[in-house]
Amino acid sequence: MNVTPLSRRGFLKTAGAGGITMWIPTNARGYTSAEMRVKDAEASLVGVSKWELDTPVLCVDLDKLEQNLATMRKKLAETRVASRPHAKTHKCPAIAKLQLASGSIGVCTAKVSEAEALFAGGIEKILMTTSNVTPNKIRRAMAISKANGSFIQAVDHPRNAQDLSDAAKHAGIVANVVVDVAIGTRSGVPADDRALAIAQLVDKLPNLKLRGLISYDGGAQHIKGFTKRNEETLKRFEPSLGTFEAMKRSGLNTEIFSGGGTGTYNIMPKVPGVTDVQVGSYIFMDAQYLEIGGEGNEELYTDFAPSLTVITTVLNTYFPNRLTTDAGAKALTLNKPDAIVIGEKGFRYNAGSDEFGAIQYETSSKQYDVGDKLELIVPHCDPAVNEYDQMYGTRKDRVEVVWPISARGHSQ
Ligand SMILES: Cc1ncc(COP(=O)(O)O)c(C=O)c1O
Repeated sequence: MNVTPLSRRGFLKTAGAGGITMWIPTNARGYTSAEMRVKDAEASLVGVSKWELDTPVLCVDLDKLEQNLATMRKKLAETRVASRPHAKTHKCPAIAKLQLASGSIGVCTAKVSEAEALFAGGIEKILMTTSNVTPNKIRRAMAISKANGSFIQAVDHPRNAQDLSDAAKHAGIVANVVVDVAIGTRSGVPADDRALAIAQLVDKLPNLKLRGLISYDGGAQHIKGFTKRNEETLKRFEPSLGTFEAMKRSGLNTEIFSGGGTGTYNIMPKVPGVTDVQVGSYIFMDAQYLEIGGEGNEELYTDFAPSLTVITTVLNTYFPNRLTTDAGAKALTLNKPDAIVIGEKGFRYNAGSDEFGAIQYETSSKQYDVGDKLELIVPHCDPAVNEYDQMYGTRKDRVEVVWPISARGHSQ
């Protein structure tokens, strides 16, 4: 783990020290996307330099990804808490398999369609963290449950619990359920008597099996500065802990008590009873997460390495102190915080336009030409990944593997 104090500016400088942005072989032939699709199918892009890929293209540095897996494993091994990574981040069965192989006890999904894609890709230990409330989704969730006894889904409403039990009965199964306990106002049942009542209801319903509770605090993950994040996370989690304790006192099954994400993976183990953290972004990182600061560095979050990048091509250099690239909103999705241009200190990247990225700068490390390539750390990894059919796993800049993002676009 790199805990060397580094500012965001310093990080960019260091990232640039390897010169990875500028190295484009003079004999690079460049592949079109049509050629890339054929070559992906034949696996014949293996060994090719990432700088030859048609852009915008999504790449993942395998050394860094493996480092992130190892860091999570090592840090959690010092606690009694496991990881159950959220696959909404990568949507990719191949990465889920790596996470399971590195000690994770299962994966999470946000959507039933993600769960279907992962199951089709060979993943069984799936916990769906969003409740299924429509007849169509409930039917699909029961179909997964029937084929895969390890599937677990969330519930946060008594009527929904009854609907799930009825659907499970119709499917001839007993379905695994966890109660989703709210922190904030997004989803989940408020952490009061209503949460306990749902847990008791699920426990009584004949075709449901209560497995415990989940409680994810989306608002805590990006609190800037570790000291503040630690304090607020623990405080905000108290009502959920109260629900867990009430469930235990009532003799209910609490074998799962899951919560936390990349920003709080090292805080949640301080909560008694928590079994696992639903970490998502740690595998890739992004500009949003780099800014939050960590235990060893209040300014920059260095626990995990930014493994995910988008490579983009410079399209226009006519205008002073400006560059136009081919990676706009459709390549990066979110526009805040700015995408980080690796190797350039003061570049301000605007991805607000559909097809184009607009860079403004005062100084640059070189004179850019049309056709030059730049490598970007994306503003937020999850929605960016969702824009691509596959990601190119590279080592020392050469393609080693092409991973289909099977659940890409699976938003239902
Ligand atoms: C329910 C749930 N769990 C876990 C995560 C993973 O969070 P992170 O990417 O911050 O690790 C998310 C992300 O939004 C989530 O919605």
